[in-house]
Amino acid sequence: MNKSSKSLVFSGVQPTGNLHLGNYLGAIKNFVDLEKKITCIFSVVDLHAITVFQDPSELKNNILETTAGFVACGLDFKKSIIFNQSSVSEHAELGWVLNCISRVGWMNRMTQFKEKAGKNKENASVGLYVYPNLMAADILLYKATHVPVGDDQKQHLELTRDIAKKFNNDFKVNFFPIPEPLIQKNISRVMSLRDGMKKMSKSEDSDYSRIDLQDSEDEIIKKIKKAKTDSLPIPAKLDDLKNKPEALNLLNIYSSLTNKSIEKTMENMAGKDFSKLKNELSDVLVATICPIGKKIKELKNDNQYLQNILKDGTNRAKIIAKKNMDKIKEIVGFISY
Ligand code: TRP
Repeated sequence: MNKSSKSLVFSGVQPTGNLHLGNYLGAIKNFVDLEKKITCIFSVVDLHAITVFQDPSELKNNILETTAGFVACGLDFKKSIIFNQSSVSEHAELGWVLNCISRVGWMNRMTQFKEKAGKNKENASVGLYVYPNLMAADILLYKATHVPVGDDQKQHLELTRDIAKKFNNDFKVNFFPIPEPLIQKNISRVMSLRDGMKKMSKSEDSDYSRIDLQDSEDEIIKKIKKAKTDSLPIPAKLDDLKNKPEALNLLNIYSSLTNKSIEKTMENMAGKDFSKLKNELSDVLVATICPIGKKIKELKNDNQYLQNILKDGTNRAKIIAKKNMDKIKEIVGFISY
């Protein structure tokens, strides 16, 4: 990564429920490393959340809870900008302009919409359909140069790049930088503990499918004990786990938590039983997750403190957003008063 002073990272997390291990390893842990090296903006993307109905009081709670999660995981809100998306109205404004740049044909290729809308496509919100354009607006509004993405958001970033290029092209400007993905080294996806083909998710019914950041020590131990694995010992080669996604997932989680490559973990663990891995995994999980969960609970009791973080972040984000949006309006040909 080019760490010039012009580099800027943007990322968003949806406030749709309790944060879990997938949010931590797949996103927030990486943010903590990134903000040490580069200017970062992290948004609680509430506009994205309402593409499926959210109960208003739960949404409010979840926005604060996600903010608490960011801080509890170690993000520095004095350094990075942390704010909630809807409080900077330029996101919605640029989202509209980009709706007019983006093509229906591009939207129709988005696999996440197909997955999320499922069989009932006719009844999905229009917002869910154009969700990737809003994500492009988030990134381009700040002229971000780098975006940390997991597997599931790669296609949306690819679309963002296409939109940025088309905008620059249509208006014959060189305004938007073309954002680059930052792919994480050790892990890009934490899978369900019950089904290694599915992403760990708050929408899966069984609590045993995921580790929540606020789980107690007992809950973590119980969930790992119950997690699906393999009756054979841990193999030495990654290839031998091809048809064993649950076993691979546990090794991946362990590697990610201990900052080792999966190959290194397998080298160390080859020939041992999965029960041994489970014990060690429970130990690192408890040591990492429990302090975070405790901190989230503490922070949640201080609503005002969390609101002040968002308010300060909003003010800082608005300065950049307003400046860039004014320029975008000028490029498009609007008259602003
Ligand atoms: N779509 C992302 C997700 O569901 C969240 C998101 C919204 C995002 N805007 C973004 C991620 C901008 C990166 C950059 O995970």
